[in-house]
Amino acid sequence: MAFSVVVLAAGKGTRMKSSLPKVLHPIGGKPMVQHIIDTVNKLGATNIHLVYGHGREQLQNKLSHNDLSWCLQDKQLGTGHAVQQAAPYIQDNEDVLILVGDAPLIKESTLQQLIAVKKDADLALLTVELDDPTGMGRIIRQGAQVTAIVEHKDASEQQHQIKETNTGMMIMGGKDLKRWLSALNNNNAQGEFYLTDVIEMAAKEGKSIHASQPSSAIEVEGINNRVQLASIERAYQDEQAKALMMRGVSLLDPARFDLRGELEVGQDITIDVNVIVEGKVKIGSNTTIGANCILIDCEIAENAVIHANCIIEQAKVGEHCSVGPYARLRPGTVMKEKSRVGNFVEMKKTTLGKGSKANHLSYLGDTEVGEGANIGAGTITCNYDGVNKFKTVIKDGAFIGSNSSLVAPAIIGVNATVGAGSTITKEVGDNELSIARGKQRNLNSWQRPVKK
Ligand code: UD1
Ligand code: CA
Repeated sequence: MAFSVVVLAAGKGTRMKSSLPKVLHPIGGKPMVQHIIDTVNKLGATNIHLVYGHGREQLQNKLSHNDLSWCLQDKQLGTGHAVQQAAPYIQDNEDVLILVGDAPLIKESTLQQLIAVKKDADLALLTVELDDPTGMGRIIRQGAQVTAIVEHKDASEQQHQIKETNTGMMIMGGKDLKRWLSALNNNNAQGEFYLTDVIEMAAKEGKSIHASQPSSAIEVEGINNRVQLASIERAYQDEQAKALMMRGVSLLDPARFDLRGELEVGQDITIDVNVIVEGKVKIGSNTTIGANCILIDCEIAENAVIHANCIIEQAKVGEHCSVGPYARLRPGTVMKEKSRVGNFVEMKKTTLGKGSKANHLSYLGDTEVGEGANIGAGTITCNYDGVNKFKTVIKDGAFIGSNSSLVAPAIIGVNATVGAGSTITKEVGDNELSIARGKQRNLNSWQRPVKK
């Protein structure tokens, strides 16, 4: 049966105490509602209706790349009222899967199962047993039959004992849903139009109501405050860490690893503690990532060693390269195979050729370094005159003495040598030695000043 999805995301999320709408708060670096949309996209729904209200501009900005039908709920008068906003776009002959925007860990398999349960029933409900069901809607049964959902605030003392709760996720026929929605009222403790009231209406019409459960309670756990946000984040990270380990990655402490994006990996990769991976990152087999590294949208090839405390962003590190400790590779950096950068080296829009080295304290910006070159400690490319940026080219086999400034545009020829402490302002030809510094004078008649 064809079906559409309604995602409820109009609430403000008052308890987040935030100017960001609750459903945009990130889990694993991605808005929580985007997790739900991504999962729903795997189900093959006809339409995804997003009921929105609070923070509408922020939502539309952040979610603009999705194929969504946007349903404005101007005032948040309850979950039933929220679904009513999507009703005009719902077909009689399709099923409607209703989801909440603040339970981001819901699994595709759990939703598939709920959809399967609906095949033999008029309405299928996702419920979960909780040790502490406080605040949740309770599932009322007569025998095995579900007959109603009673909200916590409307429930009797006896009903408060019920541990089976409503997750807020359910599926039913479009025609039934629209009929029941139009019959809702707000005569209840919260003065809201409750979606949950449709269950009793269905039961009274003699419809069959079947319940299904998620594989674990964490999947349906809603986020209402930042304590819950942090705990869902940990659960999500734990899941990702386990998946990586099952794929052959050693995480020295899975509790101290954060993936906020997508990580493509080979085998026998070792990742030390406190590593953060963001965006799209690739790591090749046998590569080691030291402690406290931040990897953002980058590619690291096989057999590379990234020492502790490096930041690598929009850069490519080749096979058998060594980076850091304390190196920063900024956007546009390419390290060819077997090249090395050491501590306190910063590179931007720079290619370091095969086997070349910059082992200590350097800035290389807008630079092309050939193969087998050696960049001495403290070498700086002066790529910026305050207005414009210029290129530096250091050719194969060049040797740049320590503490040199290469004022761009600069060209250092093949196998050329720059004497330590030079400020290079003119091209250095192939095989030449260039020394551009004050000559040393030793004055033997000089006396140190004495205190007056
Ligand atoms: C709801 C259920 C409750 C269930 C619980 C699960 C109702 C009446 N109650 O309660 O049975 O146990 O979820 O977490 O349905 N929303 C709107 N517009 C509104 C109101 C809510 O879009 O006018 C959205 C919220 O943004 C949120 C979702 O609906 O994503 C659930 O709303 P919330 O207020 O958290 O529902 P609960 O009171 O927790
Ligand atoms: Ca509420």
